[in-house]
Amino acid sequence: MYRFIDYYHNEVQLSFEDHPFAANPKHVWVVCRYEDKWLLTKHSDRGFEFPGGKVELNETANEAAIREVKEETGGIVKNIEYIGQYKVMGKEKIIVKNIYYATISELIEQEGYYETYGPVLMEEIPEGVKKDRRYSFIMKDEVLKRSLKEVKKRFKM
Ligand code: GTP
Repeated sequence: MYRFIDYYHNEVQLSFEDHPFAANPKHVWVVCRYEDKWLLTKHSDRGFEFPGGKVELNETANEAAIREVKEETGGIVKNIEYIGQYKVMGKEKIIVKNIYYATISELIEQEGYYETYGPVLMEEIPEGVKKDRRYSFIMKDEVLKRSLKEVKKRFKM
């Protein structure tokens, strides 16, 4: 398990074990790959980030992940796999997020992309995201670096 402090000075715990913090977490975050590129979204307030969001009532975390990818990028998930989980000790509440890796079969243009401007494809996630104001705070802690490392290891990239 990894522990660190995030962009907002909250403590974060991260693990790539099987659901260490909650069996049914309320949040999901999806590292997406489409045609040999990373698929992100541009959130209207936060900036570039991998898609994700909240699990709705009567929905599994897995289903939420697939829905969020479609809503925020237009991406159709071909395959999705749980890779880990993190817990953020926020000022008001504690949240737990499942991390997934998804491959995308096609990008379908949507009429709207919820709170985002839609899909953004990147060959590489730049080294300097931490200091880059165009990137969301959720991309600015160790979750990103360690998740990409985990994905590359597991899927032999
Ligand atoms: P609302 O009902 O919309 O308020 O959502 P929520 O309160 O269930 O969760 P929210 O997204 O507001 O997040 C609660 C806390 O967790 C805040 O302190 C956020 O900064 C923090 N947080 C949410 N997502 C992430 C994330 O992916 N990474 C990090 N480091 N912090 C996060």
